[in-house]
Amino acid sequence: MSGVTSSPRQLKIAVLHGPNLNMLGLRDPSLYGSLTLEQLNDAMLDVAAALHVTLIIEQFNGEGEIVTAIQGARAASVDGIVINPAAYTHTSIAIRDALLAVNIPAVEVHLSNVYAREPFRHASTVADIVVGRIMGFKGDSYTLGLQALARHLRV
Ligand code: DQA
Repeated sequence: MSGVTSSPRQLKIAVLHGPNLNMLGLRDPSLYGSLTLEQLNDAMLDVAAALHVTLIIEQFNGEGEIVTAIQGARAASVDGIVINPAAYTHTSIAIRDALLAVNIPAVEVHLSNVYAREPFRHASTVADIVVGRIMGFKGDSYTLGLQALARHLRV
């Protein structure tokens, strides 16, 4: 044994926040936690640095903007996507089609446990095409999703 350790390959992961997530901190903290989006993003960046992951973090209120960002992830040679489509989770065929088109491994995250909420939130247009789903842990859903995706990509 040489005792020499090598760093894992640097990964590039896009974090896409959907509509109204720019309002974190103001939205019901019992569902969404008390962190602002900026604080959540800072927590993600800390975890990413330890994981040798470069993050591209974006938030969009528009469905089409999210579709464009997913398409852009391919051009930017992104290895994986952590996505919280927020309310579009429950309706957007366009976001589903974009994820299918780029064929980049994705993890679906939600701050709240959507199954403990209204029935219309139980549907997800992307549930069957993502690698996995993490929800209900407020901001930790994102950092857990990031850790799981990095491990998945390195296997
Ligand atoms: C959410 C759950 C959605 O139902 C809701 O529309 C959101 C946030 C979550 O992270 O818990 O905006 O995606």
